[in-house]
Amino acid sequence: MRPLPLWLPSLLLCGLGAAASSPDSFSQLAAPLNPRLHLYNDEQILTWEPPPSSNDPRPVVYQVEYSFVDGSWHRLLKPNCTDITETKCDLTGGGRLKLFPHPFTVFLRVRAKRGNLTSEWVGLEPFQHYENVTVGPPKNISVTPGKGSLVIHFSPPFDVFHGATFQYLVHYWEKSGTQQEQVEGPFKSSSIVLGNLKPYRVYCLQTEAQLILKNKRIRPHGLLSNVSCHETTADASARLQQVILIPLGIFALLLGLTGACFILFIKYQSRVKYWFQAPPNIPEQIEEYLKDPDQFILEVLDKDGSPKEDSWDSVSIISSPEKERDDVLQTP
Ligand SMILES: *[C@@H]1O[C@H](CO)[C@@H](O)[C@H](O)[C@H]1NC(C)=O
Ligand SMILES: *[C@@H]1O[C@H](CO)[C@@H](O)[C@H](O)[C@H]1NC(C)=O
Ligand SMILES: *[C@@H]1O[C@H](CO)[C@@H](O)[C@H](O)[C@H]1NC(C)=O
Ligand SMILES: *[C@@H]1O[C@H](CO)[C@@H](O)[C@H](O)[C@H]1NC(C)=O
Ligand SMILES: *[C@@H]1O[C@H](CO)[C@@H](O)[C@H](O)[C@H]1NC(C)=O
Repeated sequence: MRPLPLWLPSLLLCGLGAAASSPDSFSQLAAPLNPRLHLYNDEQILTWEPPPSSNDPRPVVYQVEYSFVDGSWHRLLKPNCTDITETKCDLTGGGRLKLFPHPFTVFLRVRAKRGNLTSEWVGLEPFQHYENVTVGPPKNISVTPGKGSLVIHFSPPFDVFHGATFQYLVHYWEKSGTQQEQVEGPFKSSSIVLGNLKPYRVYCLQTEAQLILKNKRIRPHGLLSNVSCHETTADASARLQQVILIPLGIFALLLGLTGACFILFIKYQSRVKYWFQAPPNIPEQIEEYLKDPDQFILEVLDKDGSPKEDSWDSVSIISSPEKERDDVLQTP
């Protein structure tokens, strides 16, 4: 936002200077572009883009100045952001946040320099770290599954001073459920017990830190941690149920089955005896057939023949009286 209005007047000045043929106007170097301040946790990093290139072979360096409290500008020498070639100034020089702490309102500006030529200063919006910072998620999150609960431990996103504190929210939902996400908190402690969960269910969660300023004002939401999912264990009574009821159930089932079998056995005892005790009987004739099929067939034929003979016998017996009668008739 700010660089453009500064950049345009400098162009205009160049144009006017050129029109007036002032030697100073050509000494004006184009200013750095798009300065940006990255405020994340305890990081304060100022970045910008190099000015449009020219045919001048000399390298471009940059200078950063700051102002707070007294309203006068000071060169940034520690960390060294004076006559540097990179388009970045790490104001905290490694995360100590000593240089521009809350609650001071800080002004920053940057310019380009080539030889004895310098650009216009490009200013940034003023900032107060705790007012402007993006709060990251809690760090070092560890989740321990408990009995129908999850115990969450973590560290604050960064160290805060000057009466500022953090509070924490936990967003959670059942992984396989259709239930909507729930939010627990705010918690002041960095050790949270998420209770009243169902045992043996997988829950997914994200944690979030909110910065509370000295004046008790709460900064808008911090960034959510990555989603992590965890299965709860059973509480004591559910475990007791598991330990006692399941074997008990299996025992009762077996008992029932045994009883049913016994009753059936009593009821159909004879049939059961027949099935289990009498060896399966092959009819005698078939058994003989199986022993020697050829002989068996002859035997059967013989047996079939004998009744015929018998019948003949009987016929002869019937005929014999006729003979006798003949005899009787012939006798006279
Ligand atoms: C800062 O860094 C620049 C470039 O690396 C160097 O020329 C300059 O001497 C340094 N200034 C101080 C005070 O260390
Ligand atoms: C810049 O330095 C050059 C010599 O290096 C000199 O001729 C020129 O006048 C200087 N310009 C300004 C604006 O000081
Ligand atoms: C810091 O926050 C204030 C108030 O929201 C805003 O006006 C200002 O532009 C912010 N500063 C930066 C550098 O973003
Ligand atoms: C996170 O854990 C690592 C290793 O376990 C440790 O070195 C680091 O100091 C911890 N960070 C915080 C903020 O506690
Ligand atoms: C979160 O997830 C992203 C992408 O999977 C990964 O790059 C990042 O390191 C994770 N952050 C943490 C704190 O584990």
